[in-house]
This record gives sequence, C-alpha cells and structure tokens, in this order.
Amino acid sequence: MAKSGSSFSVSAVPVTVFAHLLVISIAALTLVWLLKFRGGFAFNSEFHKAKIFNLHPLLMTLGFLLFSGEAIIVYKTIPAARKWQKLVHLILHFIALAAGIVGVYAVFKFHNESNIPNMYTLHSWIGLSTICLFAFQWLLGFFSFWYPRAEPMRRARMLPWHAFFGMLIFLMTIVTVETGLTQKFIFQRLLRSQEALIINFTGLLILLFGMSVGLIVILPRRV
Ligand code: HEM
Ligand code: HEM
Repeated sequence: MAKSGSSFSVSAVPVTVFAHLLVISIAALTLVWLLKFRGGFAFNSEFHKAKIFNLHPLLMTLGFLLFSGEAIIVYKTIPAARKWQKLVHLILHFIALAAGIVGVYAVFKFHNESNIPNMYTLHSWIGLSTICLFAFQWLLGFFSFWYPRAEPMRRARMLPWHAFFGMLIFLMTIVTVETGLTQKFIFQRLLRSQEALIINFTGLLILLFGMSVGLIVILPRRV
C-alpha cells in the first residue's frame, strides 16, 4: 500500500512475531483475571450470576478480538496459496463471530436474570453495532470472494472497501473491549489493587495488538 517509489523497508515478519506474543499474553492475563479474581465461568447459575457475566469478557476478548485480529493478518502470517489464506481468513472470522454472538448473549442473559436494564451504556451501543457490522461484513465477504463469488471486475472494485471496512470494524472492536474493561473496573470500584493492575495491563496490551495488526496490514510480506 506504500506510495509508488517509496517503501517501508521493513517486512511484516517481526511485527507478526510481536503480535503473536501479544495474543498469548492477552489470553493468559484474561484467563488469570477471570479465573483467579472473578470466580470463573458458568452458563447457568442460581447463586453466582457473576459467573454468567464472566463468559462475556472471556468470549469477547479471547474469541472475538483475538480471532478476528489473527484472521486479518493471515495474508502475512500463512505462507500458502491465496486460496488457502482466504479459507483460513474466513474460518477464523467465523469463529470470532460465533464467539461474539455467544458472548453478547451471555451478557444479555446475565442482565435479564439479575434485573439490570439493557443497552444503557456507550460500550453496549458501540459493541452491538460492531457485532452487527461484523456479521454483515462476513456475509458480504463470503458471497463476494468465496461462494458464489462476484465477477472479477466487481471483486477488484470491492476489495479495497472490504479491507477498509474490515479495519474500521476491527478498530471498533478495540474501542469496545477497552470501554468494556474500563467500565468493569469502575463498576467493581477496584482502585489500586493487583486485579486493577491486571485489567489495565490487559487493556494496554490490547491497544498494542490493535496497533500491530494495523501495521502488519500495511507492511509488505517481503522487502
Ligand atoms: C468487542 C467486544 C465486546 C462487545 C461487542 C460487547 C458488547 C456488549 C453489549 C452489547 C452489552 C449490552 C448488554 C445488555 O445491555 O444487556 C455489553 C455489556 C457489558 N459489557 Fe461488553 N462487549 C465487549 C467486550 C467487553 C469486555 C472485554 C468487557 C470487560 C469486562 C465488557 C464489559 C461489559 C459490561 C460490564 C457490561 C454491562 C454494562 C453495559 O451494559 O454496558 N465487555 N457488552
Ligand atoms: C467480518 C469478517 C471480515 C473482516 C473483518 C475482514 C477484513 C479484512 C481485512 C482488514 C483485509 C485486508 C487484509 C490485508 O490487506 O492484509 C481483508 C482482505 C481480504 N478478505 Fe476479508 N474480512 C472478513 C471476511 C472475509 C470473508 C468471509 C472473505 C471470503 C473469502 C474475505 C475475503 C478477503 C479477501 C479475498 C481479501 C484480500 C486479500 C488480499 O489482499 O490478498 N474476507 N479482509
């Protein structure tokens, strides 16, 4: 994507290694936070409704955010034919979407069973818009680039818009996760504590992950 005649002179490879280290760290920190400090997970629970809520950050971070980030960078991380890269791209996005839908269902379930109103925060508004746009982008991407596929001219015209809206939705995902972490922090009145440090550090690594994915997309696979 660099302007003709100019170049970044750096390949995407070192940044993909960094992004993968971030993925491992974000996943580990999220699990430690939810298992050690928040009491783990349950889909149904009579007395520990918070365990139902915990499925929300788990599925949204480990499932939705990390899988969609990995899906975007497959064109730089998988050294295979474009057809296989596309297949992995669409499968990873599908896993992200499935996790996202179950994760949002879990927080609605938690709210309804605990008599908490729905959709009253900026986080929930941006979050629900993100999931809806993501599902739409997936369907449009699938029908245009995989099956039955649009004709070549139309595909070529759609591709830059697909990449642009894909990055926009990914940006919205980062914003939603960051606002989700922040409001959880405030709801729990955490102030200075080990848990507070874990949540803030996770948020910081998530920001770095977003920046890395953005950089990987614009860097060439080889210089
Ligand atoms: C992209 C990822 C995420 C999406 C799409 C998302 C979406 C949503 C939606 C739609 C709601 C509203 C549920 C309702 O009104 O019944 C909600 C609630 C909530 N989410 Fe998230 N969420 C995401 C990530 C997170 C994360 C990582 C946390 C961290 C703990 C979090 C914390 C919360 C909290 C505390 C609520 C309840 C308060 C509220 O309605 O805003 N979310 N989320
Ligand atoms: C919500 C789901 C999706 C999102 C967020 C998304 C996002 C993206 C992004 C950001 C890029 C640019 C990557 C780069 O330039 O390195 C891209 C490229 C691409 N995506 Fe998707 N995508 C989604 C679903 C799909 C689906 C279902 C297909 C069907 C096969 C697809 C096919 C493609 C193709 C063919 C490219 C071009 C790769 C290239 O430039 O060689 N995408 N996508």
